[in-house]
Amino acid sequence: MNLLANQKVILGITGSIAAYKSADLVRRLREQGIIVRVVMTMAATQFITPLTLQAVSGNRVHTDLLDVETEMAMGHIELARWADLILIAPASADFLAKLTYGHADDLLSTLCLATAAPIAVAPAMNQQMWQAFITQENCKKLQQRGIHFFGPATGAQACGEVGSGRMLEPFELVHQIENLLTPKKLQGIKVLLTAGPTREDLDPVRFLSNRSSGRMGYAIAAAAQALGAEVTLITGPVALSPPLHVSIFSVYSAQDMLTSVLAHIETTDIFIATAAVADYRPVKMETQKIKKNQESMILQLEKNPDILAQVTQLTNPPFTVGFAAETHQLIDYAKDKLKRKNLDMIAANQVGIEGSGFDSEDNALHVFWQDGDMVFPRCSKKQLARQLMLLITERYFENTAQ
Ligand code: C5P
Repeated sequence: MNLLANQKVILGITGSIAAYKSADLVRRLREQGIIVRVVMTMAATQFITPLTLQAVSGNRVHTDLLDVETEMAMGHIELARWADLILIAPASADFLAKLTYGHADDLLSTLCLATAAPIAVAPAMNQQMWQAFITQENCKKLQQRGIHFFGPATGAQACGEVGSGRMLEPFELVHQIENLLTPKKLQGIKVLLTAGPTREDLDPVRFLSNRSSGRMGYAIAAAAQALGAEVTLITGPVALSPPLHVSIFSVYSAQDMLTSVLAHIETTDIFIATAAVADYRPVKMETQKIKKNQESMILQLEKNPDILAQVTQLTNPPFTVGFAAETHQLIDYAKDKLKRKNLDMIAANQVGIEGSGFDSEDNALHVFWQDGDMVFPRCSKKQLARQLMLLITERYFENTAQ
């Protein structure tokens, strides 16, 4: 169910110093399951070698329009038909001009004329060249023609100047591609998520918390956003960069998280509770640091509010998805939680095993709803989040249709 898996992208590389980032871009695209074929202009080969790009893409690199051997293997028309997307990154000022006027004097410009696939460009040039009247006029024309523009960004340039014209970073380009290639099934739908751990203070320097990294929740937030949803993420303290185009609210304790969730819940269509909320908090928070002058000590704790349960008890609750992290009897506990907390879906994951669950890059899930279930085998949390979000979308629309 990974929408990006096996999507076919032609990466066009043109003559710009930002071409040194293209190898990383190819690697990141392939991590998403995308099949990449690289086409380079002659100028691009002065900045990075075709051999490097062949090694990272796993496919032969195309450079010539009139090469008998390449035409035999996969001709330019065939290549133009093969692509689901042509991304030109970096796109030089010269190439943007060629694209504007429909030139077809090298392989890349010919492909752009011969394809029915969408075309995206990531401009990269000196800030003066980017600001030049003619470049801006060309870009306006290209945008009117439906060419997608990724960037450019503003900042320090290889030429020593500062300004607009930097190519977006490879991770940002992957995000843009994800957005472009993912059908906007959740357009107009508001998704609210909780993520990460909460912290319950004992004294001014100590707190109770857990090993949740927030990665799963952050990845689900990004996947929901890529599907076109309006996403709000209420997050406990984590060391992650926030997903792009998502509204973020940072909270500390379970009580703070509850307050923030209740403030947003009324307009929410889908609520996904991935946070590992502390079940208990100290009855008393000491105002001064607790001294170690006793051999042992007893901490008295009281129960925190169950955010998820409070949401499903509302008169008009949103479609609600819970998570169950268990070290044993995963299926029984998850099914019980689905019923007891009155959830629409529950995603169960086994924690306490090496390389999966808390604080890890990978995860595996077993998802249950009232009359069905689905197993997602172990893979990266990002891929898993996309698959899960598609299932949630499917179940959400099935539910609202009833
Ligand atoms: O009961 P348990 O903590 O295992 O339930 C897990 C699910 O409930 C998760 O979705 C978690 O985000 C949510 N939860 C909550 N508030 C709590 C405890 C758990 O929202 N106080």
